[in-house]
Amino acid sequence: MPRAGCRADFPALARRPGRPMIHYLDSACMSLVPRPVLRAMEEYYRDFPGCAGRSLHRFSEEVSHRFEAAREGFARFLGTRDAASIVFVRNATEAINLVGRGLSLGRGDRVLVSDQEHNSNLVLWQRLGTERGVGLDVLPLPEDGSFDLEAFEERVARGVTLVSLFHTSNLDGRSLPVAEIVERAHAHGARVLLDGCQAAPHVPIDLARLGADFYALSGHKMLGPTGTGVLAAAPGALDTLEPLLVGGETVEWTTLTEHALRPPPHRFEAGLQNYAGVLGSHAAVRYLEAAGRDTIADHDRRLNARATAALAGEDRFHPLGPADPADRPSILAFALDGVDSHDAALFLDAGHSVLVRSGRHCVHSWYDRRGLTGNVRASFYLYNDGTDVDALVRGVRELLRRTEGKGPRPPKVAPRPRAVGRRRR
Ligand code: ALA
Repeated sequence: MPRAGCRADFPALARRPGRPMIHYLDSACMSLVPRPVLRAMEEYYRDFPGCAGRSLHRFSEEVSHRFEAAREGFARFLGTRDAASIVFVRNATEAINLVGRGLSLGRGDRVLVSDQEHNSNLVLWQRLGTERGVGLDVLPLPEDGSFDLEAFEERVARGVTLVSLFHTSNLDGRSLPVAEIVERAHAHGARVLLDGCQAAPHVPIDLARLGADFYALSGHKMLGPTGTGVLAAAPGALDTLEPLLVGGETVEWTTLTEHALRPPPHRFEAGLQNYAGVLGSHAAVRYLEAAGRDTIADHDRRLNARATAALAGEDRFHPLGPADPADRPSILAFALDGVDSHDAALFLDAGHSVLVRSGRHCVHSWYDRRGLTGNVRASFYLYNDGTDVDALVRGVRELLRRTEGKGPRPPKVAPRPRAVGRRRR
């Protein structure tokens, strides 16, 4: 357990009159926000609602100071020596776009991705192919969670400019051997961009040792507010990027015909920033540091092992990815024979207050190639406990019992109006 009473720090999980206990198992999509994060955001708007780096008054000075302190906080959290290598962005998607467009890739450049990337690490490369002739190579990943380093190196050796891979998969929770990947990619002159969205919230990251050129993450998956994220870079790597956006705050000076960009990271942070969000995400970093990511990883692993073991005996239950939950600690994705994943998710919510994600998890290509419409995904985090796992297990068992021999649909639950007709990803 990361910390006794940790659940009580998360207002969204509080017991409320007329509402059953919530079992939130969708942190891979979006994590919940603890009180210190809410406080940090409120404090900004209440006590010093200025804009950083412009005016000289006390509000502005205070937010400037705290904004740069947040940068240092993220540098420490990610194990980089240099706060100037941290760029604040809206989310990992923006960070990946900043790298992909910023590197000014063109004809003759090739990007290598896996066949299990989130759309945020796929669509950009397809567009750069259409717009600029950038080549895209796709490395198939075995479904058992293994990674063939020799096959990877052989691909890179054919001439790859940038390797862009997830660190931990949002689909099945497996992690890639990123240290070896970086080493082998660099040996062949390729740069490495890692999507750390599902890893950074759960395990310690030491970028100085890892040596990845770029590392992207989203604040909303690590107890922070929505609309926050970070691009972290190896020393000097930001110097090789063109900004995605330019304007106020990105320049030292302008004339009517010219301008001089500020040094990184400021040249990449155009316009008035999400101060409340950044300060909130800094509070999230401090919360995670206090909990300890090794402790969080252990906690995830134990909950996942308990859920996997409890459901293993059900013959219509099929977990995705590595068989051992220790190899996919924060995620248990599964299919239930004869049950549509969205129907299962609605049933679990309506009948058991278990909140999971269903569908294709923004990895359409992976499901479509297998003729699958999606799966159910339960994801674990530090505020979950055994009661959440037990509720999930109860719900899945009931669903299986009620759909036994009854064809493909689960018992009817009334979908909430907002769910009707909405296209889910
Ligand atoms: N939001 C995406 C998910 O839920 C990353 O997997």
